[in-house]
Amino acid sequence: RIPLWLDCDPGHDDAFAILIAAHHPSLNLLGITTIHGNASLDNTTYNAGSILEAIGRPEVPVYPGSRKPFSRPALHAPDIHGESGLDGTDLLPKPSVPPITNENPILAMRNALLSQPKGTPWVVATGTLTNVALLFATFPEVVDHIQGLSIMGGAIGDSFTDAPMSKLPGERSRIGNVTPWAEFNLYCDPESSQSIFSNPALASKTTISALDLTHQVLASQDVQTRILHGGRDPSKPPTVIRQILHALLTFFAATYEKVFGLATGPPLHDPLAVAVILSTLNPSFASKHPQEALKFDDRDGERFAVHIVTDGRHGEDVSATGQLGRSIATPVVGPGVAIPRSVDLEAFWAIILDCVQLADDC
Ligand code: BDR
Ligand code: CA
Repeated sequence: RIPLWLDCDPGHDDAFAILIAAHHPSLNLLGITTIHGNASLDNTTYNAGSILEAIGRPEVPVYPGSRKPFSRPALHAPDIHGESGLDGTDLLPKPSVPPITNENPILAMRNALLSQPKGTPWVVATGTLTNVALLFATFPEVVDHIQGLSIMGGAIGDSFTDAPMSKLPGERSRIGNVTPWAEFNLYCDPESSQSIFSNPALASKTTISALDLTHQVLASQDVQTRILHGGRDPSKPPTVIRQILHALLTFFAATYEKVFGLATGPPLHDPLAVAVILSTLNPSFASKHPQEALKFDDRDGERFAVHIVTDGRHGEDVSATGQLGRSIATPVVGPGVAIPRSVDLEAFWAIILDCVQLADDC
């Protein structure tokens, strides 16, 4: 199984990233660090523990990481994820295992990654990049040791893809989701983001699932219904975990409709960053699951130099924030960041549904 460490800010879509990281039979989730982002660090830490409890993996260690970026105040997204960061259901359980607060989270991440054979572990980041930047700045040996870094973040634009959200009318038809230019995770801490992309050895191991890709992965009514009932008789009451995941998607769908006018279902951004690892699976891995066929299209290995705009201040008035947090991707020949343009949607939803079933059986 492929070892991975997940850094996240749950978060409705982060909850699904945790689900597949913790349950996919080809993955070995070593631990979770939490980060400021969708909500405060206290909330995202509680939410990570609660999701692990709900899906039957409470033993996965959770370490609270950074409360804020170094050079800016923390930003949250209550308009999208509610005040708690994971609004929408009263069924979420209290974590039975407390987060680990007497160890340095960055050191814990480093130790867990280095305990795995060289070239095997992945770091997956589905939140703001403060912890991950700290990891690679403090322990540069980890760059050489990991197989890859998979980030949900960024917005490329320039017709990079034809995602449905890029066709919405008005302000939000631009590429970003927090400003016309910028995606939330990179915007929250642009300096940390830039520290990752400006490290050539690290950038050449990095894949980003940008909005151009994630906006193609919409949790439609049909997907929501399949999550609620699986293959079971819809007249029978769904299991609690299915009710929880369905309620989270219902809430997420409602906020996306309200904020972005998107009525076709919310983009499930974060699990794509975990699924990127699955697309690298060697066929020798036991292959009973349809997800083994998951393919991302990066046009035969195209690579980019990525630059994050750090000039500017976070502000209420987005028109005053200029291009802060924008991810500028320039094609390069040779090593660089991979930015998949599309994904096999059917295989992706099969992964999600299989992992819901595995959590259900837990
Ligand atoms: C990203 O921002 C967060 O709100 C989501 O959890 C996702 O990681 C999408 O821009
Ligand atoms: Ca997230």
